[in-house]
Amino acid sequence: MAKKIVSNLNVQGKKVLIRVDFNVPMKNGVITDDTRIRAALPTIEYVINNGGKAIVFSHLGRVKSADDIKKNDITPVAKRLEELIGKPVKFVNATRGAELETAAANLGVGEILMFQNTRYEDFDGEKETKLESKNNAELGAYWASLGDVFVNDAFGTAHRAAASNVGIAANVSETAAGFLLEKEIKYVGGAVENPQRPYVAILGGAKVSDKIGVIEALSTKADKILIGGGMMFTFLKALGYNIDLAKELLAKAEGKIVLPVDAVCNKEFADNPGVCKDVDSLADDDMGLDIGPKSLELFADVLKDAKTVVWNGPMGVFEMNNYAAGTIGVCEEIAKLNGKANTIVGGGDSAAAVEKLGYADKFSHVSTGGGASLEYLEGKTLPGIACVDEI
Ligand code: 3PG
Repeated sequence: MAKKIVSNLNVQGKKVLIRVDFNVPMKNGVITDDTRIRAALPTIEYVINNGGKAIVFSHLGRVKSADDIKKNDITPVAKRLEELIGKPVKFVNATRGAELETAAANLGVGEILMFQNTRYEDFDGEKETKLESKNNAELGAYWASLGDVFVNDAFGTAHRAAASNVGIAANVSETAAGFLLEKEIKYVGGAVENPQRPYVAILGGAKVSDKIGVIEALSTKADKILIGGGMMFTFLKALGYNIDLAKELLAKAEGKIVLPVDAVCNKEFADNPGVCKDVDSLADDDMGLDIGPKSLELFADVLKDAKTVVWNGPMGVFEMNNYAAGTIGVCEEIAKLNGKANTIVGGGDSAAAVEKLGYADKFSHVSTGGGASLEYLEGKTLPGIACVDEI
């Protein structure tokens, strides 16, 4: 069944509560990547251009202490939203109380209100309470009381059941998906439910422990699983030594897992090209920092006929130019499939790599979810999607 979308709602004259994921990277209070804010603009614009009143809110970071409260003030994000949308954004520096209630009640048609970081509700000034993160029922009902209908556009948070998504949805008459959530369901959900074949998954990143669930799920769903990044070494070792977990995953995937045959190594994170070695001649103290050219050729051969590609995790330390070739090479191979296959990149680091390396427009979809896209690919039900009404 299809989900209700914001464009199915009558927003005319209504206060529309819009949960977004503006959990953006910041350095000293300055936003370093505003992709997630840009990605939510179509939904907010739709609401204000169709006679609605937009009440926008998000979490930012994790809030467990007074220090986290200072560090995760969402004011710069509200300012960035104002710049990007080109309209004033009224900001209330609180997550509840008279000022917020009055601002919501007096909001005019076509106006935007944003309030403080929803995770401020996770700390009461002395101790961690997790009211937001543990979906406190009273808090969800309170936020719901500020508006008339609810739009969830926060895909990045869809794997968490919080007061600001499922808590609100339980207390309003109508809940719809925003356009971003709709797109994530179409592409990431489409790869899970109905992938065109061959279906090739590419997994990278530092730790295999973060990817066990998704490798298990893909072992039955994908046709091939290409492994790069730091976690390739856990698998390579499993071929020669007794590493139970990776051995089990290799057995379960029944020949679908394709491992690199060479790697760019160094003894430390040094700013020199390192040495490319075949994987059977790696020394114990070699750090593998990228996949090598022969591995890339092998991966390219698997990818060339793919009809669905999902990618999560870079192939190496792409932030350093000397170890970026594997990740760039994978971007190039996927770019060749433009228009011929459904290609999806998910996950904070690989999405950042694709943006940084200038390949974002060559993918069918760059997901805004890290943990959320992984859990979706695992086949789990995401509470932030489940709470949206069916049409
Ligand atoms: C993310 O960045 O993955 C989401 O915003 C969720 O953040 P969290 O892991 O702190 O819940």
